[in-house]
Amino acid sequence: MCGIVGYIGENNCVPILIEGLKRLEYRGYDSAGIGIINHDECRVVKTKGKVSELENLISEIQIESNLGIGHTRWATHGEPSMVNAHPHLNTDHTLFLIHNGIIENYLSLKKGLEKEGYVFKSETDTEVLAHLIDHYLKMKHSLFQAVRYALNEVEGTYGICVIYKREPDKIIVARKGSPLVIGIGENENFVASDVNALIAHTKQVVYLEDGEIAEVYKDSFTTKTISDETIIKEIHQVDIGIDEISKGGYPHFMLKEIMDQPESIYNSLRGRLVYNEGISKLGGLQGFEERIINSNRILISACGTSWHAALVGEYMIEQYAGIPVEVEYASEFRYRHPIISKDDTVIFISQSGETADTLAALKEAKKKGALCLGVCNVVGSSIARESDAGVYIHAGPEIGVASTKAFTAQLTVLALITLLIARRRNLSLPEGQEVIKELQQITNKVEIILKQNEYIEKIADQYVNCRNFLYLGRGYNFPVALEGALKLKEISYIHAEGYPAAEMKHGPIALIDDNMPVVFIATQDSVYDKIISNIQEVKARKGRILAIVNEEDEQIENMVDHIIRVPKTHNMLTPILTVIPLQLLAYHIAVKKGLNVDQPRNLAKSVTVE
Ligand code: M6R
Repeated sequence: MCGIVGYIGENNCVPILIEGLKRLEYRGYDSAGIGIINHDECRVVKTKGKVSELENLISEIQIESNLGIGHTRWATHGEPSMVNAHPHLNTDHTLFLIHNGIIENYLSLKKGLEKEGYVFKSETDTEVLAHLIDHYLKMKHSLFQAVRYALNEVEGTYGICVIYKREPDKIIVARKGSPLVIGIGENENFVASDVNALIAHTKQVVYLEDGEIAEVYKDSFTTKTISDETIIKEIHQVDIGIDEISKGGYPHFMLKEIMDQPESIYNSLRGRLVYNEGISKLGGLQGFEERIINSNRILISACGTSWHAALVGEYMIEQYAGIPVEVEYASEFRYRHPIISKDDTVIFISQSGETADTLAALKEAKKKGALCLGVCNVVGSSIARESDAGVYIHAGPEIGVASTKAFTAQLTVLALITLLIARRRNLSLPEGQEVIKELQQITNKVEIILKQNEYIEKIADQYVNCRNFLYLGRGYNFPVALEGALKLKEISYIHAEGYPAAEMKHGPIALIDDNMPVVFIATQDSVYDKIISNIQEVKARKGRILAIVNEEDEQIENMVDHIIRVPKTHNMLTPILTVIPLQLLAYHIAVKKGLNVDQPRNLAKSVTVE
C-alpha cells in the first residue's frame, strides 16, 4: 500500500520522482505528492488524486532539485485529501517525511506532542512521526539519530523516507513491515517501496529488512538496525526489464497481463518438468522434500485471488497426494489461535509477497515450528525471504490491480508441488507423465481461449448493464467461480457472488429471475451431470445463463443464452483454462462501463496494512 520513491544525486529529481510514482501508482492512488530540498529552498507539491494530476501541477511551477522524495497514497487514517497527502512536514517546513504502513500508537504520541505545543494539520498517523523526529532534532541530535529515536517509540508498521533541509546530503529510510529497497547508481542513489520504480535507472539493489535503517548519500550508503548496530548489506541484481513493466501496446495492464498468460505459465513451468520420471523438480524446495512429503497436514494460507488459488491447491493435493489440506484466510489465521505443529507444512501464497495479513500468518506459523513455504511472484519479497523454502511463480511483474496472470501461474506451481508430493506417495509413473503431458500443452490451450477475446467482448455487451451476477461451479471449478465473481466486482463494481453450484438451492436460488445473469463453469468432469441439473434449475426460473464448457460439449449449448468453449485438460489443471474467459469477461464489462480497470476505486495492488 502506498508507493514511496526518493532520489539523491546529480540529476534533477523531479522527473525521476514522477516517473517512479507512475510505476508505483498501482500500490495506491488516492493522492500524490513530492518534497524537494534545493539549497535553501524546500518545496512540497501535493494533490488529491492521481500522479497525473500532480504532474500537471508541477508543470505549472517549474521546480528542480538533486534531492527529493515522492509518495502515492492509499488512504488508511484520514480521507484522501490534499492535507492528508504525503509528504508530511515538521512545523518550520524543514523536514519532509513519507510513510507506508500504520503507526498504531499515534494517538498517544500525538497527545504528548500536542502538550509540547506541536500543532497537527492532517488526520493522518504519519504526521506524528514528522513532529516526533522534529522533537528529537530540537534536542540537537543528527537526523539519523532523531529518526532512530523516534522509531523506537513507534508501534505499528512503517516504510519511511525522510529528508531534512539542515542535512541536505542524505535520505534516511527505515523499514518495519513495509518494504523498502535502495537502488545503487553512479553518483546517484534511489530509494523506493519496490523495484519497479528503480529499474529504469539501476538494476543493483539492496533490500532493507524489518528493523533496519539506512543513511543514503549520493555516492554511498550505510545501514544499521534501529537499535544502532551496524550491518553490512548484500547488493542484489534485479532481473526485470523495463518492457515487462510497460503496457506493450495494450490499452490496459490488465489486458496485457491476461494476454501474457501463455508466456507467464510457460515461465512458471520452465525447467521444472522431468517427463521420464513423471516428476517436477523445484529447486526452491530442495532439502525440504522429505519433511513436506511426510507432513501430517498441509495448510495453505493467502488472501483474495491467492486464496482462491489455495482452494484449488487443496483439491489438487488431497486428490493426488493424499495429505489432508486446510485453506485459511491469512487475516483470520493469525488471530484465531490455530493449532499448528512441527509436523505441519504451511504454504503461503502471495503474488506481491508483501501482503501484511499473509506475512503475519507466516510469522505465526513459523513461531509454532511448522515448515513454512512461500509461493510468491515478486523475487526478494518479504514472504519469499521469511519462508523456510519456496517456489517462485515467475509470472513477471503484475501491475493491474486485478490479479490475472499471477493466478494462473500460482495454479501451475501448485500443480507442480502436487506432482512432487504425489509421485513420492501414491501417484504412479504413467499418471505423473499424464500430468506433465497436459502441462506441456497447457500454454497452447490458453492461446486457443485468448483467440476468443473479440467474441467474449461481444458477449460482454449483453451483460454490461446488469447489476448482479452469480458465478457457479463445482469441484475444481468452484474456486474459479469465486475468482470470476471477484474479478467482476473489483473492476466493474457490479455485485457478484460465487458459489458451489449445488449450494444455490440452499438460498441463492431465491435471487434468480430473468434479470439475474448466472455464469456456470461446467466442464466435462466427474460432476458434469450434476451441474447440468443445476443449469436446468436456473433455466426453469428464467435466469440468463452464460456457460463455460468444453470444446466437445453438445448438451449445454441449447440450454443457455451464451457459451464460451475451452479445451479439455487434466482435471486438476482445468481452472487454469476456465478462469481465462472470466478474466476477459470482467475486463470487457469494466471497459464498456468506462471504468479504470487497472486502478479500481478503493483498491491497491499490495495490501501492506492489516
Ligand atoms: O499479493 P497477494 O497475492 O498477497 O495479494 C492478495 C490479494 O490482495 C489480491 O489477490 C487481491 O485480491 C487482488 N486485487 C485480486 O485481484
